[in-house]
Amino acid sequence: MIHLTKSDIVCFLGDAIVNAANSSLLGGGGVDGAIHRAAGMGLYEECKTLGGCIPGDAKVTGGYKLNAKYVIHTVGPVWQGGGNNEAEVLASCYKQCMEIAIEMGLGSIAFPNVSTGVYGFPKPLAADIAIATVKQMLLLKPEMEVYFVCFDEENYRLYKELM
Ligand code: APR
Repeated sequence: MIHLTKSDIVCFLGDAIVNAANSSLLGGGGVDGAIHRAAGMGLYEECKTLGGCIPGDAKVTGGYKLNAKYVIHTVGPVWQGGGNNEAEVLASCYKQCMEIAIEMGLGSIAFPNVSTGVYGFPKPLAADIAIATVKQMLLLKPEMEVYFVCFDEENYRLYKELM
C-alpha cells in the first residue's frame, strides 16, 4: 500500500526512513542534515564505516535516536539537463531501497523526494519515477507499507495529483 504525507521524515514511526544523501554518506544539508541531527552521532560513526555510496545505490544503517529502526541511505543523481542518465539513476535509488527493505523483511518504509532539492531534479518527473518504481517493486511484497513523505508544498501537490 502506498501512502502520502506532508511532514518531517524524522518523525516517521515505521521501520525505515530513506535518506537523500551524498556519495560521502557523511551528512549534509536538507533531509540528510535533518536525519543526522535527529539520529545523533551514532549514525555518523556508522556511516564512516560504509566507504561511501555511488549514485543510484543504497546502504542501510541503524536508526539510533530516530523512531525508525533503520536508515536506508541512497544517493540520487544531480540533475544535469536529463541527458546524463538521471532518470535511470533516480529509478535505481527507489529500486535499491525497496530491495533492501524487502530483503530485510521490513513492514514499512518512508521516502523523501530524492534529488528534488539541492540536486535540482525536476519535481514532476521525479514524482513519476518514484511512484512508478515503488509500484513495480510493491508487486514483490504487496503487504509492505510505503510512505512518500513530502516536505514542500509543490511536491505534496504533485504526488496528490498523481496518486
Ligand atoms: N523531511 C522530509 N523531506 C525533507 C526534509 C525533511 N526533514 N528536509 C528536506 N526535505 C525534502 C526537500 O524539500 C526535497 O523535496 O527532501 C527533498 C530532497 O532535498 P535535499 O534534502 O536537498 O536532497 P537532494 O536534492 O537529494 O540533494 C542531496 O543535499 O543535503 C544534501 O547531503 C545532501 O549533498 C546531498 C544533497
